[in-house]
Parts: sequence; C-alpha cells; structure tokens
Amino acid sequence: MNIHEEKTNVNIRDTRLLLWLFSFAKPYWRMILLCLSLAVLIVVADLARPYLIKLAIDDHIKGYEQPMIAVSADRKDELKPLGKPFVVEGNAYVRVQAGGAAEAKLARVSGAFRAQIVEVGDGRYLIDGWIVNPKQEPVLENGGSAVSIRADHATYAAAPLDKEQTNAFRHKDLNGLLQLGLLFLLAVAGGSVLNYIQGNLLQYTGQHIIFNIREKMFTHLSKMSMSFFDRNPVGRIVVRVTQDTEALNQLYSQVVVNLIKDIIVMIGIVVIMLQLSVKLSLLAFVVLPGLALLTFWYRNSVREAQRKARLILSRLNAFLAENLSGIRITQLFIREQRQWEQFDDHNQQYYRAGMRSTTINSIFQPAIGFVGNLAIALLVWYGGVKVLDGAITFGIVYAFTQYIRQFFQPLQSIAEKYNQIQTAMVGAERIYEMLSEKPAIVDAPEPLRLSDHVKGRIRFEHVWFAYNEGEWVLRDVSFTIEPGQTVAFVGATGAGKSSIIQLINRFYDIQKGSITLDGIDIRLLPLDELRRTVSVVQQDVFLFTGDIASNIRLQNDAIGDDQVAEAVRMVHMEPFVGKLPLGLHTPLGERGVTLSLGQRQLLSFARAIVFRPKILILDEATSNIDTETELIVQDALQTISQGRTTLIVAHRLSTIQHADQIIVMHKGKVRETGSHFELLAHRGYYHRLFELQYKDMKRIKPAESM
Ligand SMILES: Nc1ncnc2c1ncn2[C@@H]1O[C@H](COP(=O)(O)OP(=O)(O)O)[C@@H](O)[C@H]1O
Ligand SMILES: [Mg+2]
Repeated sequence: MNIHEEKTNVNIRDTRLLLWLFSFAKPYWRMILLCLSLAVLIVVADLARPYLIKLAIDDHIKGYEQPMIAVSADRKDELKPLGKPFVVEGNAYVRVQAGGAAEAKLARVSGAFRAQIVEVGDGRYLIDGWIVNPKQEPVLENGGSAVSIRADHATYAAAPLDKEQTNAFRHKDLNGLLQLGLLFLLAVAGGSVLNYIQGNLLQYTGQHIIFNIREKMFTHLSKMSMSFFDRNPVGRIVVRVTQDTEALNQLYSQVVVNLIKDIIVMIGIVVIMLQLSVKLSLLAFVVLPGLALLTFWYRNSVREAQRKARLILSRLNAFLAENLSGIRITQLFIREQRQWEQFDDHNQQYYRAGMRSTTINSIFQPAIGFVGNLAIALLVWYGGVKVLDGAITFGIVYAFTQYIRQFFQPLQSIAEKYNQIQTAMVGAERIYEMLSEKPAIVDAPEPLRLSDHVKGRIRFEHVWFAYNEGEWVLRDVSFTIEPGQTVAFVGATGAGKSSIIQLINRFYDIQKGSITLDGIDIRLLPLDELRRTVSVVQQDVFLFTGDIASNIRLQNDAIGDDQVAEAVRMVHMEPFVGKLPLGLHTPLGERGVTLSLGQRQLLSFARAIVFRPKILILDEATSNIDTETELIVQDALQTISQGRTTLIVAHRLSTIQHADQIIVMHKGKVRETGSHFELLAHRGYYHRLFELQYKDMKRIKPAESM
C-alpha cells in the first residue's frame, strides 16, 4: 500500500463513528441544547417577518376596504364577539373577511347592517352593502347630494366621506401599523442578537471540543511506538492534527445545529404556507422536484470534486513536509529542479481540483437562484389572478414570495452542509482510526518494579526480531553484558546493531527469545522506568526550539540548573558554553546560536547523562565528530561510562578498543565476541575489519596499538 494513499469516503450512517463524535460533544450538551433553543427562536423571528408584513397589508393598509358589520353606537358591545369594534359618527363597526363566514357573522347580531368603504375615482364612499370582487369597476350614479353606487347590477346607497371621516375609519389602522412596525423591528433586532449569541456559543463549543480532541491526539501520538511512525509519514500525521480536526470543528460549530435550524425553517415555511393558502402552496412546490434534482446533482458532483481536492491537498501537504525536512539533501544533490517539478505537479493537480469544484458551484448557485425566481414568477402570475378574483388577499401573495425566498436559502446551505459533513466524517474516521490504534508497546498488565539499585545487567537470549513479519533482522542473538561493563557492537551497515539498541529500550518488541535487565524480562517492566534507566545517544541529534539548557533537560523540571551544568562540564562543552553571552540560556536555531555537528553530538551526550541513567547507549554517536573533538569525546566517554553499563556502536574501531567486550554482528547474527586482543588473535571477521581500517595507516601497526 502506498503510504500516501488516503481513505476518501466514509459512510455517513456509520453509527460507530457518530457515537464516537457524539461522545466528544457530550460534556457540552447543555450548551448545544441552549444553541438549539436559540435556533428555534431565531427561526421564529425569521419567519415572523413576512407574516407581519402580510398582516400590515391585509388588515391595515388595505384593511379599510374590507366589508364591515355595523350597529348603532349604543349597541357596540354586541359586536365584540366578531372583533374589536370602533365607532364612527354614531355607528359601531367591525371589519370581517369577505366570504360565507361574513354572512353568518352578520346573522348572529340582530339588526346589524352591512357597510363598506368603496373607492370610486378620487372619492371614497360609505355604502350600505358589500361589494366583493366586482366584475366591473363600481360606478357613481345620479350625482349630486344623494349618491348611489352601482356594481355588478346592484345599486347601493352611498355617502361620500371627507378626509376626516376616512381617517376616523382608519384610526385603528394607524395604531395597528405602528404595532406591527415595532414587532417587525423586534423580530429583526432580536433575530440578529440571537444569531450573534448563538454563533459565538457554537464556536466556543466547537473550539472546546476540538481542543480536547487535539490534546487527546497529541498525547496519543506521543505514546505511539516506533512501528507506527515507520508506517505513517510525519506530513500525514500533521494533516490529521491540524486539517482533519478543523473539519471536525466545523461539524460541531456550524453544521449540526444549523442543519437542524435549516430543517425547522423549511418545515415552518411549509406549515405557514399551507395555512395561508393550500392552492398557492401546491403551486409553489411544483418547482420543488426540479430543485431537489438540481440539489442532488450538485451534491454528488461537488462532493466528488471536493473529495478529490482534499486527497490531493493532503498529498501536497505530505510532500511539502517531507521535502522541507529533507531540504538539505535536496540542495546538496542539486535536486531542486526535480523536486520543484514534483511540487508543481501536485500543485497543478490541486489547482485543477479546486477549479472544478468552483465551476460546479458557479453553475449550481445561479441555477438554484433561477429556479427560485421561476417559482416566484409563477406565484405572482397565479396569485395575481386570484387576488383579482378575491380568492386570496394581496398580503398572502406577498408573504408567499418572501417565504419562497427564505425556503431556498436552507436548501442551498443544506447541500453545502452535506459536503461539510462528508469532509468532517472523513476527518473523523481518520482521527478515530489513529486514536483507536493501540500503541504496539505498552506496559504489562501488572508491571514489576525495577529495584532502586539497578545494576545494569543486560542479557539477550535467542532473540529473533523482524520489523516486518518474516524479514528477520536479528536471528538467534544471545549475549550477556555485565553491570558496569563497556561493550561495543561492530559490524557492517545493516548488520542489526541499531536494531539491538532499539530493542533494549523497547522501541520495538521481539518475536522470539527474551531480553532481560537484571534478570527481569524487559516486557514486564514499566516502560517509563525502563526508558529512564536506559539513555540512548543517536547519530542524528534532534534539537527542539528553546535554549541549550532546555534542550539538555528536555522539559524535565526535576533536573536542576546545576545538574545541567555538571553534564555540560562532563562532556567538555563548558568552554564553548562559557563564551556564549547568555550561557546555558542561549537559544538554539533561528534566534540563537547554530551548533556544529560535533557540538550537537556533545549536547546529546549531556542530554543522555543528565538523567544519570544506569545504562548508556551510543549508536554511532561519534561518527560526526572530527578527530580533535573525538579526543575530547573519548575523554568524556571515559568519565561518563564510569559506574554504568555502556553500549557503544562505532565504525571507527579506535573508539572501542578499550571496551571490555566487543560483539561482532554479521547479517543479524552474533559472529564473534571477545576483547579487542582476543578477537585480533582469533584472526576472524574483526581482524579483517581492523586490517581494512588500518591498511592505509601503516604507521600505526596493530601490534603497536596493543
Ligand atoms: N524501521 C525499520 N523498518 C524496517 N526495517 C528496518 C528498520 N530499521 C532498520 N531496518 C532494517 O533492519 C536491518 C538492520 O538495520 P540496523 O539495525 O539499522 O543496522 P545497523 O545499525 O547495523 O546498520 C537492515 O536491513 C535495515 O534495512
Ligand atoms: Mg545503525
């Protein structure tokens, strides 16, 4: 499998994953519930607006043309069951909706009579009947003082109204409009404030959840065994911790609650529409299937495009991370051009993938807008006709156009959210997989304690080990290292020396045989105790951001400054550090001194011994050091190997001649063991290595160096 290959699709109905995601949100359920309640209020405020305008239009702006039921002012109270009566010049009136119900209401009040205000030309008249939806414009008849109005073959007595009288009839409307206006303002302002609060609360919740996940990931990662990092490129892990968690953040802070809000909005609109007018609703939703199809098509193509883009982006990220960490090599081997071409290739791919989803978006967004406007056009046409027929009011048509607009918004964002969910789920799955991968190497269920007086006796018994199943790297390796001994491992590259060392502090576990420390199988020891006992100095020294002291102490506060200073003295770094203006507190790297390879190596020695480990391991730690520094290191080594078991892997045989025991490795097996002299006398593999190294240095004959 290509290690850069990423999983790209996840089944959204994956309950295991959902439950897992849910478990992170659980501590914040109160907050989420609060956000949901706020969402409901916001929806109410949003949906109230068109309705308020509808009320303003129908009841007040055009209200005075509605049929009225009238009685003499002294019987005003009898009208109360029909509505709120108002008195104009000796009569009490209530407005009623035209239609059958109006007649019934009229019948309920004995002696009540009809009245209506009618507009003819520029004048307004109060007539003694109801003119509902006249086929022709009403006309004035026999002018003069006794006026009558004719409409649809009926004639009504009419009294002209002057401005003052008209206003008397509209008095209630002005108040009503003011009230509705205030309500409208409240809905707008309230909606905005609630939106602001809800948005912030959601961000707060999302950030908290993600904060927890990120911490969990980091803790988890730092516990993972080496085999995990062999399999997972750093770039990929970085993407997990940054990008994938960000996608998850969106899920918590934007998607879930707002998705529910969108659904409430849509249901709410349908309910209000049906309640206002069934026929118009049906008409409005004629376009719905087309819209659903469009959304479905969009969802699919955008998802595909974005998935591709994400895949390419994580490759790009991994490529970048890998190449920037290897920039030294790239420049050294003048591979910049080639690397650039590869980068350009990834970059081009990402650009194309990004463009594709942009294109799809740019087609979809206007298309949905078009369908929406089509619905509105249909509505205005059909609704207009119905208004003329008097079947529905103008306010209803207006409200419908608004509700349709409001309906399209969640429809569009739902499609978008589907993608966000998809992205988040892919991220979630990857994070889940990473978090659920158990570290291959963990403490035994009931670890034994290492005594406080570790002696440092290491024993390998018939150890077989492979990084990958079947490819044996160590075959039947056995040896014993006595406490306080200095033991050297030699052998060609790939012989398995580093592997042996990585086994001692349990970076990997062996397949067969046993490794014991002071007679206890290391698998039974607590990992932290084991690793505190064994310090390893490797060939490449990794420096963290920070000063010299913090790089030696490695965040271990138990180590005091004097201890650090002592370590620095032991590795003969004191003259160098002493010359620095800030001494041990000189920052390293970018903002401070840059150490030479030799100095880095010395620093790593100091790092190893500051913990006062019982066992010290140097894996080709002296390879980077020039001959002059090596003398210093040799001397330092002498000092620091006192009283502790020391394992040295070295290419330069001069470094290890004084070792108590030399173990010669060859192709994963122990080929020879013995002291320098014994091995030379044996005239075997070691002897040959020695000859090879000293062939060009005739002046130091083997015999002399003995
Ligand atoms: N992390 C690893 N994953 C897989 N194989 C590895 C790993 N590290 C080393 N090897 C292989 O194990 C063998 C022994 O390597 P190593 O112990 O590093 O040798 P030495 O230190 O003697 O040069 C080599 O064939 C090497 O390719
Ligand atoms: Mg090695």
